[in-house]
Amino acid sequence: MEGMDKKEAGKRIEFLRRELEKHNYRYYVLNDPQISDFEYDGMMSDLASLEKMFPELASPDSPTVKVGSDIAGKAPDTREFRQCRHRYPMLSLGNTYSLAELQDFDRRVREAAGQDFKYSCELKFDGTAICLTYFRGRLVRALTRGDGTVGDDVTDNVRTISSIPDYIGDVPWDFEIRGEIYMPFASFNALNEERLDIGDQPFANPRNAAAGSLKTLDPREVSRRGLECVLYHIIGDNLPFRYHSEALQWASEHGFPISAYSRLCGSMDEAAAYIGEWDIRRKDLPFATDGIVIKVDDLALQSRLGFTAKFPRWATAYKFKPEQALTPLLSIDYQVGRTGAITPVANLEPVPLSGTVVRRASLHNADQMELLDIHIGDWVYVEKGGEIIPKITGVELSKRPEGAPLPHFPTHCPDCGSLLVKDENEARHYCLNEACPTRVKGAFLHFISRKAMNINAGEATIDQLYDKGYIRELPDLYRLDMEKLLTLDGWKEKSAGNFLDSIAASKRVPFGRVLFSLGIRHIGETTAKTLAARFMDIEVMEKASREEFLEVEDIGDVIADSLVEYFEKENHRRIIQELRDFGLQFADNSAASRISDRLAGCTVVVSGNFSRPRDEMKAMIAAHGGKNTGSVSGKTTYLLAGEKAGPEKLSKAEKLGVKIISEDEFYSIINS
Ligand code: IVH
Repeated sequence: MEGMDKKEAGKRIEFLRRELEKHNYRYYVLNDPQISDFEYDGMMSDLASLEKMFPELASPDSPTVKVGSDIAGKAPDTREFRQCRHRYPMLSLGNTYSLAELQDFDRRVREAAGQDFKYSCELKFDGTAICLTYFRGRLVRALTRGDGTVGDDVTDNVRTISSIPDYIGDVPWDFEIRGEIYMPFASFNALNEERLDIGDQPFANPRNAAAGSLKTLDPREVSRRGLECVLYHIIGDNLPFRYHSEALQWASEHGFPISAYSRLCGSMDEAAAYIGEWDIRRKDLPFATDGIVIKVDDLALQSRLGFTAKFPRWATAYKFKPEQALTPLLSIDYQVGRTGAITPVANLEPVPLSGTVVRRASLHNADQMELLDIHIGDWVYVEKGGEIIPKITGVELSKRPEGAPLPHFPTHCPDCGSLLVKDENEARHYCLNEACPTRVKGAFLHFISRKAMNINAGEATIDQLYDKGYIRELPDLYRLDMEKLLTLDGWKEKSAGNFLDSIAASKRVPFGRVLFSLGIRHIGETTAKTLAARFMDIEVMEKASREEFLEVEDIGDVIADSLVEYFEKENHRRIIQELRDFGLQFADNSAASRISDRLAGCTVVVSGNFSRPRDEMKAMIAAHGGKNTGSVSGKTTYLLAGEKAGPEKLSKAEKLGVKIISEDEFYSIINS
């Protein structure tokens, strides 16, 4: 950048701003970043240096000044949330990758302080920021950072995270407590496995998974996602604390989840030792961290130091450089997934990275390959970030061998040869041939999996059954017999008998799980259950229109289209009929457990606390023939309101003239 003239700098500044805006959108709104944090921070720091060199080119709109916005609604498949103004702006943190720059930070703070002080050194949790408001000790609102001024109201979703207290007792002051919602690696891996299984794009890393879960789903789904929370900042007017660490200690004593790994350090050298220690220890943590946050502990000193437009002057982040390796790309395989998705996988010259030897890395999709401008024979940078599968983050152009060929993304399925189709929304290529061997085997593996039909077999069995020609379509599983099974390698009467028993047992699996087992794209476990409860019989679903699917709570365009497309196919309807003839449950026969019809035709919304768990109240509604839905509308018959029922639901019911009933009134209706 040195020696750049104003014109050149202007061009570069414009380019960097445009790129950073684009990456902000991918990161904060789509939760699908295309570059690493390190590359992003590098661009941001280049832009800041140029704006400093040419102050006349600075702009109040520059990404160096504005906080990246996570406001939903701009993304194609995110739900709109109500937006609320933050009481105190929610800022980001300045960051650096260099210890020398931390010493500069320390010098600035020390000059302003003119006294001795301590730093609170904390892990930088890699999740998504959250701001919780407590009023009279009760959680009343949860907002995302948004653009720093206005955030999305995700209170309902946040209430499902069990470590966040709803009520902390009668506290005489009101406050906001801020922190991070994150997804531990174990939940992240389970979630991605499930997403792959139903043909949804997996999340790139735990941060995106946490942010995506908080933003796009219904509270029931959020509660299954295994989100965790850690809180690290309390703000309010006239709070009785002198130190940040004291405030956090108080929060911890009142049941808030506070990090156990923070340390008070008397100097930047001590802070540097903490950094060194955690750069190693963080690899054993069950969640992702991307650095260390260093904060002035003395709150009076914090307020003297104040804020810039974007950052506090009393805190900064030291970010860990992702470990990288540089190695030649030998070739690219194109793998067919269970759902027909094609994933390009790079074969690399084996190279050690963070304790393992990396031989293969994902290239995601054709767009990503193009973006990297990758050639066979290139030296490529490989990184293991929060994610487990290493990825290629860049190409070292200076090492490109002469004549290195461009790879050709296949036009046809490498497995069955049928023409590939690109899904523009997901930027992925798909093999649409349902008879493609990999897809067929994938469909069986999904069908037999534990959360689906729970049939006791593994991949090797499915491979053998397929290779022998015994299974091509799902009903073939129910045509297997002892004679066929005894032809499998190593199978004896006992193993074959167990397998047949487990196939027979699958006929008792309830409708919701059977629906999930069919492997309809985008239909996960929860959606399948919701659909089963709503439609009661697959025949009703076969005849349902797109609009009828859309009427179901939490079903949007993508799922409705997928359902219509699935049931339109004659072949699918035939397979369902054959499975039904074998005795599988394609109807919700909970009607058998029906106690009465007193709520037949009634739609009931449940809100608040009751003398029994809410689920039990819902089960009672179903047992008496009623339907339970989540939100009050013109179609609602009763709002069953318990203690602390949602004020919004109450006022909506009043506005729409929906009858509000108490728990006692409910019992008198069902027992009348
Ligand atoms: S303090 C005004 N402490 O990192 C200061 N932030 O890149 C507020 N983060 O926006 C932030 N762990 O979402 C703080 N121990 C920690 C943190 C932390 C993670 C996040 C937070 C912040 C972002 C900045």
